[in-house]
Amino acid sequence: MLVFEKNALSEDIEEFILKFGAERSALLPILQSVQRKHKYVSDFAQQEIARLMNIHPVEVYSVISFYSFLHSNPQGRNIVRLCQTISCDMAGKIAVADAIKRELGINFGETTKDKRITLEYTNCVGMCDQGPAMIVNERVFTKLDPEKAVKILSEIK
Ligand code: FES
Repeated sequence: MLVFEKNALSEDIEEFILKFGAERSALLPILQSVQRKHKYVSDFAQQEIARLMNIHPVEVYSVISFYSFLHSNPQGRNIVRLCQTISCDMAGKIAVADAIKRELGINFGETTKDKRITLEYTNCVGMCDQGPAMIVNERVFTKLDPEKAVKILSEIK
């Protein structure tokens, strides 16, 4: 089974390299494609990408760690991102963040045990005049307070 998974993942990566090329400039779209299909870029996937592109695995990992939308660990079914930039910070982000952490029992950068929610910070999402703001998957919620944020989280399946 493990061998099958490895081969299937390697085949996917080969396919993405055929599609985007093996130049360094193709690394980001390849990583995005792997993540889209497999939900994250595992250690094995990183090794395979490096091997097939003939680059060092550290280079692959550094790109993943630079971009907040790329992940090297399994993610929850839903991604909750709270804006941490200055306008939202001044509008009460800390109280919202504390309420979210209490409600979910995890810190930012972690995933609930049931894999329901991964919690992250994000930078400005363009709703600065309506902060604090957070994105749940693709949907933006604004003018949050602790109660509103907790209610939104409780409605996520
Ligand atoms: S600072 Fe939070 S949306 Fe811009």
